[in-house]
This record gives sequence, C-alpha cells and structure tokens, in this order.
Amino acid sequence: MTSIKVENLSKIFKKGKTEVKAVDNISIRVNDGIAFGILGPSGHGKTTFLRLIAGLEEPSNGYIYFDDEIVSEPHRVVVDPDKRGIAMVFQNWALYPNMTVFDNIAFPLKMAKMPKNKIENKVKEVAEELGLASVLNRYPKELSGGQMQRTAIARALVKDPKVLLLDEPFSNLDAQIRESARALVSKIQKERKLTTLIVSHDPADIFAIANQAGVIIHGKFVQIGAPVEIYDKPYNTLIARLTGDINLIRAKIIENNAIISNLKIPLKNIELKDQTEVLVGLRPDDMVLSDSNLDRYVNVGKVKIKLVSYGAGIFKIIVSPIDDENIDIIVDSEEPLEVGTYTHLLVKINKIKIFDINGDSVFAKKSEIIK
Ligand SMILES: Nc1ncnc2c1ncn2[C@@H]1O[C@H](COP(=O)(O)OP(=O)(O)OP(=O)(O)O)[C@@H](O)[C@H]1O
Ligand SMILES: [Mg+2]
Repeated sequence: MTSIKVENLSKIFKKGKTEVKAVDNISIRVNDGIAFGILGPSGHGKTTFLRLIAGLEEPSNGYIYFDDEIVSEPHRVVVDPDKRGIAMVFQNWALYPNMTVFDNIAFPLKMAKMPKNKIENKVKEVAEELGLASVLNRYPKELSGGQMQRTAIARALVKDPKVLLLDEPFSNLDAQIRESARALVSKIQKERKLTTLIVSHDPADIFAIANQAGVIIHGKFVQIGAPVEIYDKPYNTLIARLTGDINLIRAKIIENNAIISNLKIPLKNIELKDQTEVLVGLRPDDMVLSDSNLDRYVNVGKVKIKLVSYGAGIFKIIVSPIDDENIDIIVDSEEPLEVGTYTHLLVKINKIKIFDINGDSVFAKKSEIIK
C-alpha cells in the first residue's frame, strides 16, 4: 500500500556538450492502489520517468516520496531500488534462458534468502494466479510469447511488491493475446490494490488498465485525467492522435457551423473567439453512416463511399463529401457498404472536437493546460 508523490522532478542527460532534458520538472501524485497510465511519443521521457521512480536513476533535481518517506532527492537515490517494494516489468521481459519457469519466478525470493519450502509455496501460488502451473518445468525457449510475458509478470509479483512499474509490457505480444494479458494484469492490479504505473504506446493498454492517465510530451505531463476524458477532450491534436484514431479536417467557420465542403457541422455549445478556420476532430467510432437520423447524432451531409476495408471485427469505411473527393474521412461501421454509393454522415453531437489552426483545443481553458 503506497502512494507516490513526485515534486519538481527533472532528469538531464549530458553527452559531451549536448544536454537532453528527458524529464522536465514533473510534479504529480499517484494515490494508493491507483493504476496510472502514461502515454507519449517515443523518446519523450516515459522510461526515464519510470526508472526514476524505481530508483535506477538519480534525479538531476526534485524529490520522490513513497507515502511520506523521501526515496530520491537531487543527485541522490536515498532508498535503493531493492528496498522500495517495487517490481518492474520491461518490454523485453528479460527472462533467464537457462532457468526453468519455476526458477525464473523463484529467483527474487532466492536472492532474498527465503527458505526453500516457502519459496515453493509462493511460486506455485503465483503460477496458479497467472495460469503457469502446467509449464513450471519448461525453459523460456519452450514457451509461447504470452507464457513468457506472464512469467515475467509472475517474477515481478512473487515478492508481493507495493508498487508495480510496467514499461510497454505487452508490446511484444500479438493482438490476440494482448487482450487477455491486459485483462489479467487489470484483474491482478485490482485484486491486490497495487499502485501501478504503466507505460504504453498503445492507448488500448492504458484504457484497459488505468484509472488515471497522463500524456508526457518533451518530459512534461501535458494532460492528466481519467482515460476517457483524455480520449474525448484532448487538449491538442497531438494528444488526440496519441490516444486513438482521429480524422483532423480543416473547416471554415460560418455562422457557428464548421463547413467542410458540403458538410455542415453545427457548433452550438462551442464558444469560438475570432476563429474563421479550425480543425475539426472526428473519431471513426463517433460517427455512423446512414440515411436515417439517429438520437444524439447530427446529420452533417451527404458523402460518397470511396473505400471499404475490414479489420478486427469492424469495417473501416473511407468517405468523401460529395462536393470534394480530395477529403477523406474514416468511419467505423459494423456493416460493409458498397463503394461508389452515397449515404449520410451522422456525427455524435457531444463528441465533436474543435482545435484552432495551431492544434490547440478551443475547449481547454489555458489554466487547465499543464505547462
Ligand atoms: N542513459 C541515457 N543517456 C543519455 N540519454 C538518454 C539516456 N536514457 C534516455 N536518454 C534520452 O532521454 C530521452 C528520453 O528517453 P526515454 O527512454 O525516457 O524515452 P521513452 O519515452 O521511454 O521512449 P520510447 O517510447 O521510445 O521507449 C531520449 O531523448 C533519450 O535519448
Ligand atoms: Mg521507453
């Protein structure tokens, strides 16, 4: 049971004359038992932030507290990684190839000099929890990707950590096992009430596991909130793209409507300042193609079906406004539609996103933006 508090945390890497500010003055609190998800582009400081929390890096500045105890301060790791009650799972899992699954999981307990019979009970218990009981005698090369990944998680959990740090734990798994791996981690996190930080490129990982999430850009959290809030109300177009598929289309503002060729998107509850041009953000799953109207959706106009592809239980349909075939809009559909035919584009009213031409949301008040 641990809460994590980070104050003005920075990490600067120096290489010759160049400096990289990998983590830039982050202050954040993750409450006890919360799963906190971290999204962000490659090279923007996610792993460095986790390594600082783990005590594997010294801060260049700032403090880290576990509950109210200082664990890191400027230029000093106060409490060593193995004394922090943390467990970390990396992207590559790093299993010992010449040890069986049993020995891989048992390793941290052996290092802690736990008595043999206790180790055996503990390993069996965790193996049961993670569905590994039948493969305990195998070597890593005899395992499937999912089993290897579960072994890495078992090894992390066997010491009953208070904090779990996951760095892209699912990125080596194929789509099918990913889903069950997420469900399993989410279940364990909730059952054990483990304070968890999970980093991923894939927003679906974050949405499946995290109660709270943050987006790191250039070493800073630029938006923090419930995952659904970040998905539905991203502060800018970069965050919008990081959190899922989105169509970003230039539109002219005429009498509180965003006009894209023949499509007319009403912006009733949106206060526009002097914008004459905006970027409209429409997620494929917030739209429907249909000739009949639907509750909570607005019919924005006639479109032509240009391309239909199928993937993961859903059809991706590319449509264009009938007056401008150069504009592509991707819409999710449960049914295939015939290329070359016409239909109407319905948009969920409360999911329309409007950004200024620089890509900043017109909804987000400046004071809400974490700089
Ligand atoms: N030990 C190091 N020495 C020098 N620079 C480093 C070191 N570790 C990280 N960096 C730099 O710090 C920045 C942040 O790296 P980090 O690994 O934290 O990014 P990330 O967000 O985890 O990226 P990815 O999504 O690709 O894993 C990068 O510019 C990286 O090159
Ligand atoms: Mg990384």
